[in-house]
Amino acid sequence: MILIPGILSREDIASFRARLQAVPWQDGRRTALGMSAEVKRNQQADAGHPEVQALANTLLARFGETPLLVSAALPQRIFPPCFNRYGVGETYGLHVDGAIMRIPATSEVMRSDVSLTLALSDQDAYEGGELVIATEFGEQRVRPNAGDAVIYPSGSLHRVTPVTRGERLAAICWIQSLVADTQLRQTLFALDQSIQGLVGNEGVSRQQLDGLHHVYHNLIRQFASV
Ligand code: NI
Repeated sequence: MILIPGILSREDIASFRARLQAVPWQDGRRTALGMSAEVKRNQQADAGHPEVQALANTLLARFGETPLLVSAALPQRIFPPCFNRYGVGETYGLHVDGAIMRIPATSEVMRSDVSLTLALSDQDAYEGGELVIATEFGEQRVRPNAGDAVIYPSGSLHRVTPVTRGERLAAICWIQSLVADTQLRQTLFALDQSIQGLVGNEGVSRQQLDGLHHVYHNLIRQFASV
């Protein structure tokens, strides 16, 4: 699980919240299939509404301008972001996201490799509503700050605990990565972050950095499917 801070500014968040208040909301079970529908208790903004689509497009642009997200997810395709909210008592029980998703209003399908949750509510605006992700080292729990996102492998089991006070508003989406293999993608991310950490370090020459960039890009060339 990787935290991606500061995707939206305070002004952006205020604008998103105000605009989302004015759009139609639906029962979240409408878009859940099979077993997920049984455990999903939330609401989602009508994805067919022009205002919701405009907000989704704004987010897509921001994702592309966020180097940490690009480095961690290596996006090839991104499902149009959806907006959901959980009032008191609402929750999303343990489930796994669908592997193949049809992109709305098209005949195209994509594979979900990386799941993203972007918080739009301040942490103190609600209680409960933790995103809990099962990992091989046990459960990880997170409540990101408004404007921050978390990403995690779409193949992980995860849930959202019941909201006990206030309201939890968030955007979610799925990313098909250029590198489908989670472990390989994480290793490439670690290499890229290590290289970025050396930039500006006086003890590292330009030639050494070029050598590392060369290795990174050749690994991407070898393993990315486009
Ligand atoms: Ni999910």
